[in-house]
Amino acid sequence: MHLPTPPPLALALLALPALALSSSCSSYAPLPSGSFNVTIPVGSSNRTFELFTPWSEFECDGYCVGPPRDPRPVVINWHGCNAHVPVVAYQEQVSRVEQSAADYGWYAITPVGAREKGIDQFGWNTYGIKCGSVFEDDFDFFDKLLEYMENELCADMSRVYSTGFSTGGFHSNALGCSRASKLAGIAPVAGSIGKLYTSSCDEGEGLDVVSFHSEDDKTVPYNGNFEWHSQPEVTKLWEDRNGCDLLDIPRITHLSATTRCTQRSCANGTVEDCTLIGLDHCWPGGRSGGFETPGSCKPQRGDVDATAHMFAFWEERWQAKQSERA
Ligand SMILES: *[C@@H]1O[C@H](CO)[C@@H](O)[C@H](O)[C@H]1NC(C)=O
Ligand SMILES: *[C@@H]1O[C@H](CO)[C@@H](O)[C@H](O)[C@H]1NC(C)=O
Ligand SMILES: *[C@@H]1O[C@H](CO)[C@@H](O)[C@H](O)[C@H]1NC(C)=O
Repeated sequence: MHLPTPPPLALALLALPALALSSSCSSYAPLPSGSFNVTIPVGSSNRTFELFTPWSEFECDGYCVGPPRDPRPVVINWHGCNAHVPVVAYQEQVSRVEQSAADYGWYAITPVGAREKGIDQFGWNTYGIKCGSVFEDDFDFFDKLLEYMENELCADMSRVYSTGFSTGGFHSNALGCSRASKLAGIAPVAGSIGKLYTSSCDEGEGLDVVSFHSEDDKTVPYNGNFEWHSQPEVTKLWEDRNGCDLLDIPRITHLSATTRCTQRSCANGTVEDCTLIGLDHCWPGGRSGGFETPGSCKPQRGDVDATAHMFAFWEERWQAKQSERA
């Protein structure tokens, strides 16, 4: 049998004393590397998600199938309400979140929405939008995902993040409203919050939020409608919740012909709003999120890369908190 020659790093690790190889993750069962599906019971249903594990061959604890040596952050990536089957592959193609998770060494979870009976739409039931089977509780799904992470993954439970597109953006906002103590940050893309749910959102723990929304979004209008808050209202809601005051001066973090990202660091969390022009209902910087008109999500020169930006934002906020504590 031919064995590949290990690279110098692996040889160096083999030379270390045995003690150095044990880690805080060694009690976790091995899992393969890459992307695969997991099914868990939620209420009276079985729900599925794609799990991406971040380790590479020479980075695991004894097994080349994981676990990692130290606890890793987790990002949950909720797809939009759509019929773009396969929904998970489509969401990854649009967002490339697993690709960034690989670069950062994080776990990524891409849940599969329940299918609305008779209609080929998969999605979430959340604050201000119902998509998917009415019998499913997608807040409970999130709670069960947390239990799964805690029991099966060597996850850093103080660093669980939620992002998502459209209905998935609504769900990320809603989880921020109702589950802030479980989340280190959220990044809703082209989402909102139902006006009926304002009171569930305007009080509670703060958290780090970065939103992405285009003024030319025709599906989830930037300026809101009778049932959904406008993006400026959503941003204001998070600023109030994080205790922003007049001294928390907005800072521009990305400025181009198509995008302006404005950030305020406040008492209980940082709020950033990336507003685009010219883009439809899309994941900025993504391959394509276009529905009605194919090609309408073609990236424009200057668009913020939402995925790269949210990872950098969360990482930067985490580092800042570490140095505040030190
Ligand atoms: C996970 O399941 C979804 C939906 O059932 C499917 O589209 C996707 O390709 C699966 N992922 C993997 C890695 O098998
Ligand atoms: C869920 O999966 C388990 C294990 O495969 C199975 O025994 C059970 O019948 C499933 N439940 C539903 C509601 O499909
Ligand atoms: C920050 O959060 C704490 C705990 O939830 C709360 O007591 C405090 O009032 C908040 N600060 C501001 C400025 O909102």
